Amino acid sequence: MVGSNAPSAPIDLRSDTVTRPTSGMRAAMAAAEVGDDVFGDDPTVNRLQAVAAERFGFESALFFPTGTQSNLAALMAHCGRGDEFLVGQEAHTYKYEQGGAAVLGSIQPQPLEHEPHGGIAIERIAAAIKSDDYHFARTRLLTLENTIGGRVLPMDYQREATEFAHSRGLATHLDGARIFNVIVKLNIDERTAVAGFDSVSVCLSKGLGAPAGSILLGSRSLIADARRWRKALGGGMRQAGVLAAAGLYALANNVQRLAEDHANAEYLAAGLRDAGLKVSAPQTNVVYLEVAAAQIAGLKSHLERCGIIATVAPRTRLMTHMDLPRAKIDTTVQAFRDYPDWPH
Ligand SMILES: Cc1ncc(COP(=O)(O)O)c(C=O)c1O
Repeated sequence: MVGSNAPSAPIDLRSDTVTRPTSGMRAAMAAAEVGDDVFGDDPTVNRLQAVAAERFGFESALFFPTGTQSNLAALMAHCGRGDEFLVGQEAHTYKYEQGGAAVLGSIQPQPLEHEPHGGIAIERIAAAIKSDDYHFARTRLLTLENTIGGRVLPMDYQREATEFAHSRGLATHLDGARIFNVIVKLNIDERTAVAGFDSVSVCLSKGLGAPAGSILLGSRSLIADARRWRKALGGGMRQAGVLAAAGLYALANNVQRLAEDHANAEYLAAGLRDAGLKVSAPQTNVVYLEVAAAQIAGLKSHLERCGIIATVAPRTRLMTHMDLPRAKIDTTVQAFRDYPDWPH
């Protein structure tokens, strides 16, 4: 059987990036018309970019191998050497991309504390914008993330934050790696979900199930700059249509099914709670479980023996995805229940 829906495949809760392409997606990839995308000649990449730009309401779009590179090219298109971007302490673009904006883009991050909903308070943003003084970096950009740690930013907050940033002359970028989880959760359209942002990075390789690929959305001129940076960063792929075909397939077939992942996350959380464990209330496809330091190693080995892969930590993140149907969630809950060494 193609894919990891096979009953014997391990239950992998580490991330929603672990999914294997389904046979339908693989067939679309095999049939893709291709050309050299560095020359702009790949018809499937061009179609994906056109479809994404139209769905999200942007002038232009650009296909990238990864979300990390798409975010970085966006930051480099918005900011020059010695400029600064405002970003959450826990944001992927700050914490989980090796500081690429600083290392490769000469852009200074100004990390800020999050609000419980995952955004950054407007007053905090206001206080962080530096005045025009040659001691300071030039604050150019506000970056937000949605979803962030599985949380959905309130739409009112997103509107206020982007309006405020614009009123202070800043551009706005959204790391929308999981924006389709927002769209499905709130039952809104793509344009509404990203309103207020000058650029958005969307991943096809998370809950949507493609093996690789992200799309950056923006104005024609921003995307032209990002295209230059993509080449410098080594992201100019050639017959990339085989990957773009997976992305087109994902956009056509795998968006609405994210509701299943959200329902499975709630079901998983309820099962673990019933077993007496401390879990978060999931908003999308992420469940956090508290594990005492003394239990970490034992629980990890126990889960492995049960055919379950998880990154066990004091705050264990468990993610649902398309390769985890409900029966595998039941197996997961049972395995957690069966762990003999929970503290009483
Ligand atoms: C919120 C967020 N942004 C960006 C990325 C980067 O994506 P990639 O792994 O394709 O570089 C990830 C990856 O997990 C992510 O979770």
